[in-house]
Amino acid sequence: MKTRVLTITDPEEDIKKIQEAADLIRAGEAVAFPTETVYGLGANALEAEAVRKIFEAKGRPGDNPLIVHIYDVNQWKDLVEDIPKQALLLAEAFWPGPLSIILKKSSLIPEEVTAGLDTVGVRMPAHPAALKLLALAGVPVAAPSANRSGKPSPTTAGHVLEDLNGRIPMILDGGSSCVGVESTVLDCTGEVPLILRPGGVTPEMLREKAGQVRIHSSVRRPLFEDEKAISPGMKYVHYAPNAPVVLIRGSVYSFADYVNRKALELEREGKKAGILATEQSLRKCRYGIRLSLGDGNNPSEIAGNLFACLREFDSLGVDLILAEAVEEKGIGLAVMNRIVKAAGFHVIDLES
Ligand code: TXA
Ligand code: MG
Repeated sequence: MKTRVLTITDPEEDIKKIQEAADLIRAGEAVAFPTETVYGLGANALEAEAVRKIFEAKGRPGDNPLIVHIYDVNQWKDLVEDIPKQALLLAEAFWPGPLSIILKKSSLIPEEVTAGLDTVGVRMPAHPAALKLLALAGVPVAAPSANRSGKPSPTTAGHVLEDLNGRIPMILDGGSSCVGVESTVLDCTGEVPLILRPGGVTPEMLREKAGQVRIHSSVRRPLFEDEKAISPGMKYVHYAPNAPVVLIRGSVYSFADYVNRKALELEREGKKAGILATEQSLRKCRYGIRLSLGDGNNPSEIAGNLFACLREFDSLGVDLILAEAVEEKGIGLAVMNRIVKAAGFHVIDLES
């Protein structure tokens, strides 16, 4: 299959290209499109056969459910059994935007979408090209991140092409995703909303609107062996570049000291260390291949750069990635969750 890449500069001027992608979705195909979080691979959420194409193209395990994307809140009512007041309030506050709300699903949703669960995650993305595509498709669109399963999520059309060239008919290129990490997955089926995956809408933002909000323990630590994954995505290898990743906690000084020693040691063995850290910390690092996450005082910038850096280490062919821990505040919680997962929870704490 040939993968066509269509560039969208302005959703109104480029409406014909978006219509082509919408027609493919209506015809039961899966196409990649930009969202404000990461690129998605979307297909008609109401057609099991179309949804299967997503799993095939990504090589995604069949028991990992998909998020359904809508452009109008009115579409939501048909997809879930009931919308509790609090969920509606949160949707009104944060849609369109990086929040996926999980509720009991209606019978309209095929079990391929939810991997057999009785709940479904729904979100309204904020990217204008995504909203236009969803409106023209006229159907709810199931869309996971448009990467090969296990790889870092794509934040550019180029990343999607790297992973899915020849496996999907079309990619809409709408530029770099501005948030850079995936949406917050919020389970609203219980009394107190529960964050299953931290993302662009932070716990602080949610608490301001909803009062109490819990964070699932697996956000920061691995699941225990006998623990049930509420969100099946929790149990899989994620965001992983080719080289192993180690997360390092410590002060700027202890971090720099540690990675300088480690990178030099690897260099002597003829190996390459990749150093992933804030601009401020990198100034103190002298060895290895250094990629900047951005300004350490700007967590949004760090979120925006994270996945592109992990992918770049792949193309640079490093043997080990040493990543600096950032503060788990605001979107920093999502950044740390992704790094910790990329590292398979391999953490070195220099202060303890
Ligand atoms: O920002 C995003 O959410 C992006 C863009 C494309 O919208 N999509 C995305 O989808 O990240 P995906 O499939 O890569 O991640 C969806 C996550 C998975 O961890 C999955 O297990 C969880 O959401 N999830 C989906 N439906 C669920 C459900 N009904 N119950 C619990 N977890 C669910
Ligand atoms: Mg994903």
